[in-house]
Amino acid sequence: LADLSTHQINRLVAHAYHLKQVSRPWVSPRFSEQPRRPGVSPTLLNKTIALLFSKRSTRTRISAETSAVLLGGRALFLGNDDIQLGVNESLRDTARVISGMCQGIFARVGDHSEIEELALHSIVPVINALSSLWHPTQVLADLLTLHENAFFTSIHPDPMMSPDLVQKLRPLRPLTVAYVGDSANVLHDMLVTYPRLGHQLRIASPENERYRAPKPVWDRVLELGCDKNILWTKDPLEAVKGADLVVTDTWISMGQEAEKEQRIKDFQGYQITEQLCREGGANSDWKFMHCLPRKSHEVDDEVFYGPRSLVFEESDNRKWTIMALFE
Ligand code: CP
Ligand code: NVA
Repeated sequence: LADLSTHQINRLVAHAYHLKQVSRPWVSPRFSEQPRRPGVSPTLLNKTIALLFSKRSTRTRISAETSAVLLGGRALFLGNDDIQLGVNESLRDTARVISGMCQGIFARVGDHSEIEELALHSIVPVINALSSLWHPTQVLADLLTLHENAFFTSIHPDPMMSPDLVQKLRPLRPLTVAYVGDSANVLHDMLVTYPRLGHQLRIASPENERYRAPKPVWDRVLELGCDKNILWTKDPLEAVKGADLVVTDTWISMGQEAEKEQRIKDFQGYQITEQLCREGGANSDWKFMHCLPRKSHEVDDEVFYGPRSLVFEESDNRKWTIMALFE
């Protein structure tokens, strides 16, 4: 998302909201019958997007496959064991070959340099579906979820609004967003996005270099002037002070399985609980988000399955935001 202007980010989120509305049945308190859905135009007709995934995925893969179908196109899943890549063929040659036959590449890679190399050698657009450093499509879905939630907006929805009208995305009021946990790909995209959209970030992670944003990420934060709206502490209580939204991610990202024991030790005290947020002075109406998949180390069941949790709305919104990107 550091590559996009705030205008481009807002346009994508607004387009995702539009696609969601025209694709799903209306539910209106005023009209008992559901009017016919306008539907989406088949803008990907006869087009194929390659899903080049070297890591597991539930949400990102399903979002991509189902949204390509709704747009009249096809998503071609290419996992580790499906193609010659890594065994008989280089990433460079693979990029050129796939892009000669498909109209886009949506790639989930290990090291971030792999997606840079793909983008360099592909002759069609490449979208990052998660890398060691970034997870942009997750943060687009999170933004849509925030815009849809009345608590976060400055204008409340009109319950009498006609279902025939496509509603506009409501603007977000400036938010205080706390992130408690590992400095991983999802947080990194938050760092280069939320401050530019006028939100404050308060982050808590253990005081160890490996749990703080790496240099290539922090360089982008500085380049975009985002650091002014970021507080970074080792104290989770300090991070959640005044928070409207509390966010976390797994403590053990894909590829870090060998560090599991050490990480669980280092993150003791960083679990999101009602007690932590009460003691730290979060806003009484605070909400919770997590990209999933989730382990109970980082957030307890009371919060995760409780009324503050927006996790499954976030997961639903992966689809509409990825669909907007594909279009
Ligand atoms: N949040 C997310 O990217 O989930 P998946 O790994 O299941 O795609
Ligand atoms: N940080 C996590 C995100 C999973 C969607 C990981 O990279 O595994």
